[in-house]
Amino acid sequence: MFIPKEFTVYASEELAEKARQTLKDNDRGGYTLPTDGLYPFQWNWDAGISALGWLTFDPPRAWQEFHTLFKGMWGTADAGGANDGFLAHIIFHKDSDSYFPGPDQWGTEALSPRTSSISQPPLHATMLRWMLEASRSPEARQLAMEHLRVLVPQLLRHHAWWYRCRDPQGSGLVVNIHPWETGMDNSPAWDVPLRKVPETTRPYVRQDTRHVDASMRPPKAFYDRVVYLMDFNQQAGFDPDRILRDCPYRVHDIGIISILQRASQDLAALCDLLDLSDPAQQLRRQVARTQAAVEGLWSQRWQQYVSRDAITGELLDHPTSAGLLASYAGFSRGSADTTRQWLTETAYGLPSTRVNSPGFEARRYWRGPVWQHINMLIAKGFEGGPDDALAGQIQQSSRELLQRQGFHEYFDPLTGDGLGGAHFSWTAATYLFWLHGG
Ligand code: GLC
Repeated sequence: MFIPKEFTVYASEELAEKARQTLKDNDRGGYTLPTDGLYPFQWNWDAGISALGWLTFDPPRAWQEFHTLFKGMWGTADAGGANDGFLAHIIFHKDSDSYFPGPDQWGTEALSPRTSSISQPPLHATMLRWMLEASRSPEARQLAMEHLRVLVPQLLRHHAWWYRCRDPQGSGLVVNIHPWETGMDNSPAWDVPLRKVPETTRPYVRQDTRHVDASMRPPKAFYDRVVYLMDFNQQAGFDPDRILRDCPYRVHDIGIISILQRASQDLAALCDLLDLSDPAQQLRRQVARTQAAVEGLWSQRWQQYVSRDAITGELLDHPTSAGLLASYAGFSRGSADTTRQWLTETAYGLPSTRVNSPGFEARRYWRGPVWQHINMLIAKGFEGGPDDALAGQIQQSSRELLQRQGFHEYFDPLTGDGLGGAHFSWTAATYLFWLHGG
């Protein structure tokens, strides 16, 4: 990789120290902010990735991240009771006014802690399994098993929520009801389904463009629609049946589907260890259903799985990095050949949207930039298999990028520039767990 002179290239131990410091600086006592200011609360899938980083130097703190996250899980006494096991995308443990939409915007004032009303990719069971595997000494393994005995039953409720509330007919393909649920908020794949969502007419004040240049963030029309969808949930009383019937935005996101698929297999394996045979069997039945149904999401044009509009049934035929999670998920048509192709098109790892495809923008949020934790998940899908060398290649380009740029939220795939928030927890955690010393 070409390294221009003006960049500092961090040595790996120096960078690891910076990564540990990033997590410590973002620690708010039991949970980790993605980055101060821009994201001042605990985020769902960020927590899972941050825990991997903590595990490399403070294992008790790593396990604690999950216990704190699961404090936000809805139970049978919350919001009508139909959402038992729901885990929101943001848990508002403490107030902050530096983010919109904050704790007072979701209609969840009755909860403690307050949360948002949409979820995020359920990668936790996979992270927990990796944490168990990385806990090699007898003491570390014992600590891991103690935590898993508490965390696995909670995760079973969460997976049950996804299948029960987001795929009640058992089609094998869960539905998401808000672009933010996908974690890939502003992907071009959501443009068409989002166009049918009315723009809110109520006033609100965005905060994100106070922290980050507007050219890297979504436009106003996008915000007007996502605010409409947030308010829709509240008006529907968070009733999952009503939401699935009437929400104007319903999408089968290949990212959530792949991540849930992998996590359900990992959760079943954790259940085996804990002698929970019934839930393990049930999870494996769900996995088999998805394995068959996902074939309906194959894009001939892009040679990868893509998302589908659940209202119209049309494929959202955009080549996004979510479709490269097929090997990670264990789907029958893996993602190695397509990933190999993508890697020839950019010097800096895997962009969130394929370079030169419609909708690609190198510097705007989820329309092109590289996210390091996605690189890690995709690469992990190849590790130890026939495409192990591909995993090494993704790893190498990711390592070089971080050594040059430090821990930004995301990176321009064409120039390698670090973008978005700086001092970012999941980027630092990815370095520690995946790139620094393996
Ligand atoms: C942005 C990302 C989302 C992430 C959050 C906190 O909203 O799109 O995936 O969880 O930031 O990092």
